Amino acid sequence: MSATLTQPNPTSETWMPDSWRSFPFKQIPTYPDAAALKNVEDRLSTYPPLVFAGEVRRLRNHLAQAAQGKAFVLQGGPCAESFGEFKADIVRDTFRVLLQMAVVLTFGAKVPVIKLGRMAGQFAKPRSSDTETVDGVTLPSYRGDIINGPEFTPGARIPDPARMETGYFQSAGIQNLLRAFSRGGYANLHEVHRWNLGFVERSPLANRYRTMAERIGETLAFMQACGIDAASSAQVDETEFYTSHEALLLPYEQALTRIDSTSGAWYDCSAHFVWIGDRTRQPDGAHVEFLRGVRNPIGIKVGPTTSVEDIKRLTTVLNPQNEAGRITLISRMGAEKIEQFLPPLMRAVKETGQPVTWISDPMHGNTISTDSKVKTRSFDAVMKEVKGFFAVCAAEGVPAGGVHLEMTGQNVTECVGGAQRLTEADLGARYETFCDPRLNAEQSLELAFLIAEELTGRS
Ligand code: PEP
Ligand code: CO
Repeated sequence: MSATLTQPNPTSETWMPDSWRSFPFKQIPTYPDAAALKNVEDRLSTYPPLVFAGEVRRLRNHLAQAAQGKAFVLQGGPCAESFGEFKADIVRDTFRVLLQMAVVLTFGAKVPVIKLGRMAGQFAKPRSSDTETVDGVTLPSYRGDIINGPEFTPGARIPDPARMETGYFQSAGIQNLLRAFSRGGYANLHEVHRWNLGFVERSPLANRYRTMAERIGETLAFMQACGIDAASSAQVDETEFYTSHEALLLPYEQALTRIDSTSGAWYDCSAHFVWIGDRTRQPDGAHVEFLRGVRNPIGIKVGPTTSVEDIKRLTTVLNPQNEAGRITLISRMGAEKIEQFLPPLMRAVKETGQPVTWISDPMHGNTISTDSKVKTRSFDAVMKEVKGFFAVCAAEGVPAGGVHLEMTGQNVTECVGGAQRLTEADLGARYETFCDPRLNAEQSLELAFLIAEELTGRS
């Protein structure tokens, strides 16, 4: 869906949370009941923020470190969260796998790992097509639970503004649980390592992972012997965990945008980090206009259709002061394309002098459809793209800043391959995603071990 300009493109020097409204936009639905929409927006704009600007600034500083190779980003979670999965176990399991991966990656990268959940607000989905046809019936596409319903009925597919309020409250509940898990002892490093040992023993590739797991164990034992334990050091017992989602549904993002009383600056308080998708990154479009004015660290998805001119304009418009930590470029090229398409873009950004953080999304360029029309991704293609990303970074002299993954802590069967050798025939067993196929818990951990091997190999 798109809308045309309601007034000529004003190069709005005076940014306001609603200035995006006079720019052309894509992917934002037209709500049939404008009064109901306005009511929800008004209410949301009086509700408490979901994150605090001080936390957002802290994340920005960490991301600035990743731009220099002094930290590594692990961004992960489901493609789309759903209202039906508002359950503690689901949040806990994904959080737990992210922590397990982070321990392994910290060991491989030898730098702090920045944990960034694709959760507590990842509800709105861009779609390639405005409609979906099943058995000759055509309905508007499902756009994520914060917009309409996944059921294939005309009623469910009508955009409903009340869903924004549900999305807000669900995000608040999940954010609260994540904070509790991060600080309440669940994130204890020794515990996380014990879970990893369990994974290694179960894995068909146990021999390959055992050495690294043992070395991590020895390091933890050494630290403990030196007196670095949960009692003496918060780093052993607690973790910093940040949230992120695609800033797609701008009426919602606008309603959560507030002035921070400490700095006097605008922050989008729906999450610590928000990104702009591959379909909504038009330099003259509403999404870029909105993100231009908030001080959060922001991501930009960079796909094979991104031109050198676009990337230069985007980074300049979104980061006119060249501040480190402000921009994370998320490369999502596809395993077969990355070595061709990424180098010119990296060079173009270098020329601008922008201190960006480059990370790899090895998921979105590798989605395939099986003969029976099931969307999947192969573990091998995902790993190949990560390797390609590291190779391009090394050749261009750019720090490889991290990875962005679609994953879950559940043992779903959505991506083929991995040590358990999931095949297309297995996909039906537990195919539960509301959008794109995710790596399951074991595939996610396996990927972390393989990435850690790559990272240690390079050091
Ligand atoms: C996503 O991250 O789920 C997504 C839709 O990605 P992209 O914008 O890169 O296609
Ligand atoms: Co996706």
